[in-house]
Amino acid sequence: MKIVLVGYMASGKSTVGRLLASHLQMQFIDLDDYIEANQKKSIKNIFSEKGEIFFRKLEHEMLKEVLEKEESIIISTGGGTPCYGNNMTTILEQADTSIYLDLSIPNLVNRISKEKESRPLVKNIPDAELPVFIGKHLFERRPYYMQAKNVVDCNGADVETVVQRIRDLL
Ligand code: S3P
Repeated sequence: MKIVLVGYMASGKSTVGRLLASHLQMQFIDLDDYIEANQKKSIKNIFSEKGEIFFRKLEHEMLKEVLEKEESIIISTGGGTPCYGNNMTTILEQADTSIYLDLSIPNLVNRISKEKESRPLVKNIPDAELPVFIGKHLFERRPYYMQAKNVVDCNGADVETVVQRIRDLL
C-alpha cells in the first residue's frame, strides 16, 4: 500500500505525512529526506552544487525507487515532484492513492515567508514579490496537483484536522 501526498512547498506534506503514518502504523518516507540521504547533502547544496536539472533527474529516480518498495508507505513528495517528466503518471499508476494538500496563495505566502532560506526556489525572492511569484508558480503547478485522486482543503485546518480529513477519505 502506498499513499502519496502532493502539494506546493510548505503545504504541510511532511508534517501531515508523518502524523498520518503514525496513526495508520505505516512507514513514512519524505522524498526530500530520502534524496538528501542518498546524496549525503542538503537539497539546498544539491541545487547550488549540481543544479536543478541534476536534482530533477535524481528526484525522478528516487520516486520510482520508493514506489517500488514492498512495504506500506506514506510518501511525502517535494513541491515540484509531480510537475516534472512523467512523475504524476507514475504516482497515479503505482500508488494506491494520492492526495493533494490544497492551500490558498495567501496562506502559502505566509508560511513560506517564514522559512525561505532552506528553499532554493524562493530564497532569493524578496518578500514583497512572493505573492506574485507563488501565484504564478501555483498556476503552473496546480494542474498537476489536481490530478491527484483526492484533494484535501487545508486552509484554516491544523495538522490533526488535515489528518482526520485524509482518514475520512481512505
Ligand atoms: C521544490 C520543493 C522542495 C524541494 C526542492 C524543490 C519545488 O520540497 O523538493 O527545494 O520544486 O517546489 P518541499 O515542497 O518539501 O519544500
